[in-house]
Amino acid sequence: MTSPLLQVEDLHTYIGSQHILQGVDVEVPAGTVTVLLGRNGAGKTTTLRSILGLWKPARGRVVFAGQDITGWPTHAIARLGVGYVPEHRAIFRSLTVEENLRIAERRKGDFQRRRDFLFDLFPDLARLAHWPAGQLSGGQQQMLAIARALVPENRLLLIDEPSEGLAPVLIEHLIEAIRALSASLTVLLVEQNFHVARRLGVHYAILEHGRTVHQGRMSDLLAQPDLIHRYLGVTV
Ligand SMILES: Nc1ncnc2c1ncn2[C@@H]1O[C@H](COP(=O)(O)OP(=O)(O)O)[C@@H](O)[C@H]1O
Ligand SMILES: [Mg+2]
Repeated sequence: MTSPLLQVEDLHTYIGSQHILQGVDVEVPAGTVTVLLGRNGAGKTTTLRSILGLWKPARGRVVFAGQDITGWPTHAIARLGVGYVPEHRAIFRSLTVEENLRIAERRKGDFQRRRDFLFDLFPDLARLAHWPAGQLSGGQQQMLAIARALVPENRLLLIDEPSEGLAPVLIEHLIEAIRALSASLTVLLVEQNFHVARRLGVHYAILEHGRTVHQGRMSDLLAQPDLIHRYLGVTV
């Protein structure tokens, strides 16, 4: 097996005096979607934030494209090509769709090419390019949040709970969009909705109480319904 694009090894993170991550291991192979699973409060968001240097890990390693980036400042990690779509869609509601994309530009002069690529990927956004983002539906705002993270030509995208609060038909659009974009980059996806996760994830890791309790191929996980029930409370 080739080495993964992202490798998280025995990560420990404190928030204040609380020992939140107590040994997180995640392998994210290049060119596929890996889903990070676990109940509410298991440490999924904290793991993404620790990868990005938004929390400083106390122990363990984060290796991206063969380089140890543990403890690097967030802007330096972002510059390597790591994008982040946080929970709750941080978009600017009073700016138009296109303006939201434009302010995410990192390298000057590249905007039109990236915008055209993203409008191809998300045709709804092309149609609504000149609308204030605040007037978009929840699903369209989520697409915009993802598109914003893709204005720079990132190699890895960390996406936190994109389906949260979306109606089923919009979740279908979202699944299509994430599938389409995963053809050209690697995705680490936090997804509470197991029925979404199982359709997108090629690999998975399950967290419980800040620790990785299982990881591997989604097809192997699906063959173990008892495990899914024990850690995720879902019957498949
Ligand atoms: N900013 C914070 N301050 C204090 N505790 C936090 C903070 N963020 C997360 N936690 C705690 O860390 C644990 C893991 O949270 P989180 O990573 O958000 O879980 P998940 O994303 O899996 O639901 C929870 O017990 C949560 O209360
Ligand atoms: Mg979370």
